[in-house]
Amino acid sequence: MTRSEMLFSEAVKVIPGGVNSPVRAFGSVGETPRFIASAKGAHMTDVDGNTYLDFVGSWGPMILGHNHPAVLEAVLEACQEGLSFGAATEREVEMAELICSLVPSIEMVRMVNSGTEAVMSAIRAARGFTGRSKIVKFAGCYHGHSDSMLVKAGSGVMTGGIPDSTGVPEGCTRDTLTAVYNDLKSVEDLFAAFGSEIAAVIVEPVAANMGVVLPEKGFLEGLRKICDTYGSLLIFDEVITGFRLSLAGAQGYFGIRPDLTTFGKIIGGGMPVGAYGGRKDVMELIAPCGPVYQAGTLSGNPVAMAAGLAQLRLLRDTPDFYEDLNHTGDVFFEEMKKVLREAGKPWQINHIGSLGCIFFTKEPVSNYAQAKTSDTKAFAEYFSYMLRQGVYLAPSQFEAMFLSAAMTEEELRQVLETFQNYLKQSQS
Ligand SMILES: Cc1ncc(COP(=O)(O)O)c(C=O)c1O
Repeated sequence: MTRSEMLFSEAVKVIPGGVNSPVRAFGSVGETPRFIASAKGAHMTDVDGNTYLDFVGSWGPMILGHNHPAVLEAVLEACQEGLSFGAATEREVEMAELICSLVPSIEMVRMVNSGTEAVMSAIRAARGFTGRSKIVKFAGCYHGHSDSMLVKAGSGVMTGGIPDSTGVPEGCTRDTLTAVYNDLKSVEDLFAAFGSEIAAVIVEPVAANMGVVLPEKGFLEGLRKICDTYGSLLIFDEVITGFRLSLAGAQGYFGIRPDLTTFGKIIGGGMPVGAYGGRKDVMELIAPCGPVYQAGTLSGNPVAMAAGLAQLRLLRDTPDFYEDLNHTGDVFFEEMKKVLREAGKPWQINHIGSLGCIFFTKEPVSNYAQAKTSDTKAFAEYFSYMLRQGVYLAPSQFEAMFLSAAMTEEELRQVLETFQNYLKQSQS
């Protein structure tokens, strides 16, 4: 028995499913979670001493690699000053100013502790501002685990086979309308029926919780237009894409201005952080400025702010950071496509910048229904092979591969070679 197996057998007795978040379970790929002991740069090491090239990167935030010296130093320095004050600090102002300066649509921003909280709060703000109740989301988009968003959600809800969660009263999701990703007609139909009741459309501008699904040309622009026509707000959930595709996130990448934006883990450099922000006239409704209540004891925590500030400043100040990382991603995923073609496999690679995924299906994937045609057994086989060769992928077909700037060309070349070897011996 490995130490990971031993720990897992202990964990299941005291933690539901042995993990503190369902996406960490390796159930859908028939494996035992590897318990991680440490991480540095592009690599993680488990408690059995196995080292992996990490394509999860804590689900996005480790874009610079693990424990970047500048981030680590900032955290250690902040720790000397105190771990939590529950009071205003200078770093919070610096963080808010930094985010506002980098993302043009954000005029005011409020820090929270997770992506879930950011989305929940942005929705409340949108409802408060418009005086309307309904929210449009897209099937396969995941926006955290708040009650009203657990409708046709992607991520762990998808592989877990839970269509919706039990424990969510019907009343909580009554105002959540679901449209089809990349299908403007499905959105127009909802607006034709409920337009004057819709507070906001929330979307992952690049969907990354049903595998990676790119917005087709005109889709995001179309959402902007529909929202403007009906006086609804457009919320970009940039928990994955924020500070990943560009300094101004997917909105900068595609040139669309949402009314509100949600951010998550990446702005904490690995610490538990989230934020929501956008138009001043909407954000000024948030308490104590206005009547929309939202609060948090640990929000803007000084250690988390120090980590986030160090990371965001590095991203801002490293010349050509995004050009280089996005180019590396393009080359890598295009090479994966080539390897598939050469092996005569009909599967799909979707990618943008440093995000990508393989779908084990013949069909191009541009929405949730198409994503679900992927052969999850084939994914599990591929996952296990790669893991044993030291490549740590997300343990689910419906998640993204995250590249980090710490990965070298040589390491990525080796991954392609491993992928090639896998295809040679694969039965699928
Ligand atoms: C797009 C998106 N929104 C919201 C969330 C929820 O964030 P958190 O897990 O920090 O609550 C996630 C989580 O990965 C996400 O991918």
